[in-house]
Amino acid sequence: MLKRAALLVGVLLTVTAGAKPYVVGGTLASVSEAPWAIALNNTQSASSSGRYCGAVLVAPNKIVTAAHCMDEAVSTYYAVQGRADLADDSTGQTAKISKVWVHPKYNTKDNRYDFAVLTLAKPFVGVPVLPLETRTRADRAGVVPTVYGWGDTQGTGPDETLQKAAVPDLGDSTCTANQSYVANGYAAATNICAGYVEGGIDACQGDSGGPLVLNGRLLGVVSWGQDCAQPGKPGVYAEVAAAAPTLQSQLH
Ligand code: ARG
Repeated sequence: MLKRAALLVGVLLTVTAGAKPYVVGGTLASVSEAPWAIALNNTQSASSSGRYCGAVLVAPNKIVTAAHCMDEAVSTYYAVQGRADLADDSTGQTAKISKVWVHPKYNTKDNRYDFAVLTLAKPFVGVPVLPLETRTRADRAGVVPTVYGWGDTQGTGPDETLQKAAVPDLGDSTCTANQSYVANGYAAATNICAGYVEGGIDACQGDSGGPLVLNGRLLGVVSWGQDCAQPGKPGVYAEVAAAAPTLQSQLH
């Protein structure tokens, strides 16, 4: 009942928000268009749905997420596939995590190589997987990848429902020109700077670890930002091509 009321309030807010876009500033995404999108839930989550981070299916029994998402006990995580609305557990499938690998170069000082590869205790058989982007030149200003996630919408859309948003690749120079981004560890070789200089559309809390997709490949992983969708504060993604051989070696 409470859930139904919350859902209704959500719908009303969405309608009244009107022009304001929803991730923040995105639109609803379906499971059929993003079957490889995984909600990496956790029993310790502040949310009753278990929402915690995003992830992406890259092999039947392997998901890629952000290293910074892996701060709870392994037994508390579970991957959810095929569930656009996390409150609706009548759809989709879940799997526990049997093994965690965190990129050896990841650290909380510079936040670089924000990658983890998790092994599912039971594979998601027959679900399309997303291949990794291996060419570092794929990260260049002007391309327009799409980010997917169940993260915060800041009132611009339904909560904990799969959203997507096209976020232009702004090029590394946009983020390296920002002193606080450099101080946070932004590096041209290993990060992607994407979003809108004017703000309004961005990944947000709860989207971390989720996929940034371009031309059917995993271009990046949601890593960090300063607040969400603020002017002059683009989203920062871990660049998959910069770590592709290492990640690939974890997929079998
Ligand atoms: N670090 C956040 C998380 O754990 C997401 C960061 C993305 N933020 C952004 N403004 N693009 O979910």
